[in-house]
Amino acid sequence: MERVELAEGLTLSRIVYGMWRLAEDPDRSPARVRAKIEACLAAGITSIDQADVYGDHESQALLGAALAEDAGLRARLEIVTKCGVMAMTPRFPLRRVKHYDTSAGHIAVSVDGSLAAMGIEQIDLLLVHRPDPLMDHMETGRALDDLVAGGKVRAVGVSNFRPHDFALLQSAMETPLVTNQIELGLMAPAGFLNGELAFLQERGLPPMAWSPLGGGRLFSTAPVGLWAALRRVGAEQGVDAAAVALAWLLRHPAGILPVIGTGRPERIAGLADAMTVQIDRETWFELLALATGSEVA
Ligand SMILES: NC(=O)c1ccc[n+]([C@@H]2O[C@H](COP(=O)([O-])OP(=O)(O)OC[C@H]3O[C@@H](n4cnc5c(N)ncnc54)[C@H](OP(=O)(O)O)[C@@H]3O)[C@@H](O)[C@H]2O)c1
Repeated sequence: MERVELAEGLTLSRIVYGMWRLAEDPDRSPARVRAKIEACLAAGITSIDQADVYGDHESQALLGAALAEDAGLRARLEIVTKCGVMAMTPRFPLRRVKHYDTSAGHIAVSVDGSLAAMGIEQIDLLLVHRPDPLMDHMETGRALDDLVAGGKVRAVGVSNFRPHDFALLQSAMETPLVTNQIELGLMAPAGFLNGELAFLQERGLPPMAWSPLGGGRLFSTAPVGLWAALRRVGAEQGVDAAAVALAWLLRHPAGILPVIGTGRPERIAGLADAMTVQIDRETWFELLALATGSEVA
């Protein structure tokens, strides 16, 4: 599995394993979580994507319980997590509306909570989960700088930021933001054409792509022709159609890191086969046309 250097001392596997859906599994045992992680490691996937809010704030603790069972496991992983979304949940009964909070106080509480839930000493990569219209970029930037300087976080980045949000926050920081994790894939191709990827490419920053298979919609609501084309390319190259959909992202020169989310360990190796797939230029545009419903102008 290819490795991507995001910051000094921090490399991620090219394909990242997301744990958004971890708490949805009827089997939430540490053994089941470890089976998912072991399947990732066997395929060369060492990087885990988390967030404080995933699984109604349960997902990080489920990972922590699995890490606690195997003293050597944490050192084999890079752990990405996020902060800033204040979800409506019975855990916070006084909260009246879903909102974002990128204040220094909230970020500090969130990071301490993430470290405690996962039982780890340091977060490898902390992302601000969503652009917050009330973000005070000077305050948020200083909070992120302080976390890196203090060692609780190795590197920082953002998620779902538009280029101007990214530039604003970076302007108030000493530490470089190392990525933007955005929705990207055949079911969400906008970033290829609206400048979001170009913005990151100009800065030499590899994007992370969330829900690269459309969160499963690729298998249920994708245009019939798209699915047939993915299967055709997969059959030609001896891989699953899903691996071809990931390879479509890998083909882009921005160096995209897809964040996969299957809860089935047995699917992980087949998805990692994406690394072996060759997508030529015409096939890339063919898949884009089938995804968007029209050829490029
Ligand atoms: N930054 C953000 O705002 C943000 C937002 C959303 C997600 N994320 C991150 O992105 C990660 C991935 O998101 P995602 O789960 O939506 O990713 P995804 O890989 O696009 O979709 C995974 C879903 O597709 C289903 N699926 C159906 N057939 C499949 C097949 N043949 N192969 C693989 N999956 C298949 C999976 O079901 P099975 O489990 O049954 O395989 C699962 O429910 C999350 O875990 C999270 O870390 C970030």
